[in-house]
Amino acid sequence: MASLSSFSFLLFSSILFPMISFSIAQTSFRPKALLLPVTKDSSTLQYLTQINQRTPLVPIQLTLGLGNAFLWVDCEQGYVSSTYKPARCRSAQCNLAQSKACGECFSPPKPGCNNNTCSLLPDNTITNTGTIGELAQDIVSIQSTNGSNPGRVVSVPNLLFACAPSFLLEGLASGVKGMAGLGRTKMGLPSQFSAAFTFDRKFAICLSSSTRSNVVVFFGDGPYVFLPRNFDLSESLIYTPLFINPASTAGAFFEGEKSAEYFIGVKSIKINNETVRLNTSLLSIDSKGNGGTKISTVKPYTVLETSIYSAVVDAFVKVLAKVKRVAAVPPFGACFNSSNIGSTRVGPAVPDIDLVLQSNSVFWRIFGANSMVQVSEDVLCLGFVDGGVKPRTSIVIGGHQLEDNLLQFDIATNRLGFSSSLLFRQTTCSNFNFTSNA
Ligand SMILES: *[C@@H]1O[C@H](CO)[C@@H](O)[C@H](O)[C@H]1NC(C)=O
Ligand SMILES: *[C@@H]1O[C@H](CO)[C@@H](O)[C@H](O)[C@H]1NC(C)=O
Ligand SMILES: *[C@@H]1O[C@H](CO)[C@@H](O)[C@H](O)[C@H]1NC(C)=O
Ligand SMILES: *[C@@H]1O[C@H](CO)[C@@H](O)[C@H](O)[C@H]1NC(C)=O
Ligand SMILES: *[C@@H]1O[C@H](CO)[C@@H](O)[C@H](O)[C@H]1NC(C)=O
Ligand SMILES: *[C@@H]1O[C@H](CO)[C@@H](O)[C@H](O)[C@H]1NC(C)=O
Repeated sequence: MASLSSFSFLLFSSILFPMISFSIAQTSFRPKALLLPVTKDSSTLQYLTQINQRTPLVPIQLTLGLGNAFLWVDCEQGYVSSTYKPARCRSAQCNLAQSKACGECFSPPKPGCNNNTCSLLPDNTITNTGTIGELAQDIVSIQSTNGSNPGRVVSVPNLLFACAPSFLLEGLASGVKGMAGLGRTKMGLPSQFSAAFTFDRKFAICLSSSTRSNVVVFFGDGPYVFLPRNFDLSESLIYTPLFINPASTAGAFFEGEKSAEYFIGVKSIKINNETVRLNTSLLSIDSKGNGGTKISTVKPYTVLETSIYSAVVDAFVKVLAKVKRVAAVPPFGACFNSSNIGSTRVGPAVPDIDLVLQSNSVFWRIFGANSMVQVSEDVLCLGFVDGGVKPRTSIVIGGHQLEDNLLQFDIATNRLGFSSSLLFRQTTCSNFNFTSNA
């Protein structure tokens, strides 16, 4: 008897002990923040990121969609996973995703095609195309961070996303399989990651113009530490309220849905400290969701409603009257011979453009590095484009104006923190230390 019980004890300990320590390791490490690496695609100017999804895990390239409501991926081609779970109609998942549709599929079951599942409307925000797709869950793994370096990889076993047909990839960079939605919904990646690890519903983006460097999206609160001096940039942000647009601005949406995008309250624009005369009613969001100012990672340059565009270009050109203008290079309207423009720490020496926010003392200052685009060796253009008359949103702050600026979006308190140009602090977004300390 004694030998039998000691045998069973040995068996017990040798099999269970490693399992117990494994599960402790899994649950005792709770990351305070996560990160995704981001690069810029030189041919489309899209910002790309990569997640590891499915069982077995495969890397999936995605276009970053700040205003996309959720993650969507192509399930029509090459989706193989033993952990794929379609969301049954009327389940808690469908409710959280605010799905208002229940679907059937008339071909053999596979990811993206199952009966009695609820559907969402995945949106390609580059081409403004929406379609219908199955709501599903699968495992995603992602790097954690302590704010200075990447740390160990953690996984979210049941991350919600939408399946899309392959045609929705049209217009996305080559190799991309979907869009990583950072929108302000419960199904957006920031909210799902913060719920999975119970950290703050905040995230930060820091983009770069360089198509060779790795930049970063942080999920969770700071520190956000950048080389060379190990500054924690979360400590020097300026804050402005985020506004909720009551009407969806997506390509396809269910009736009554709010916009998942991030709007801020620009009250006026100053160039070289002088207020540009604008029709200020275009700067507020009306009851149908038209107007206002949003931030976008899918527009490469800031897009302005026609009358705002003309007023800004005229004012800018007037201040730069001494600099020789050259023929415009589309999509830009005002270009200059760069040999007549000096340079500063924050880019070409041109008039500052201030987006004035909740008060005259709170403004987002755009310096030369973010206002001007070098289109050829001796030509610099004002990097704003004409959005036409009656666009849905009057000002869409685009990628070039966001680069080398840290932006923190606090979804819980509706607040944007912005750094203005990091070049002033002698760093850039590509100075995150990607050496893992896991
Ligand atoms: C869904 O149900 C229909 C009929 O009820 C059936 O013809 C079809 O094959 C089913 N599809 C899947 C994906 O199970
Ligand atoms: C993150 O970890 C690295 C290496 O362990 C350490 O040097 C650094 O100070 C940590 N950063 C923070 C913000 O705690
Ligand atoms: C800009 O204008 C403000 C008042 O509107 C004034 O206090 C400030 O000195 C001006 N700055 C420059 C550089 O002209
Ligand atoms: C200002 O913009 C609003 C909203 O588009 C428009 O209704 C109004 O006519 C514009 N006013 C002027 C003076 O152009
Ligand atoms: C810019 O100015 C330089 C020097 O004056 C001149 O050589 C060059 O041709 C000009 N470039 C353009 C595009 O006008
Ligand atoms: C980047 O982080 C690694 C790991 O913590 C560290 O060894 C290295 O010195 C850091 N690089 C710089 C340039 O500080």
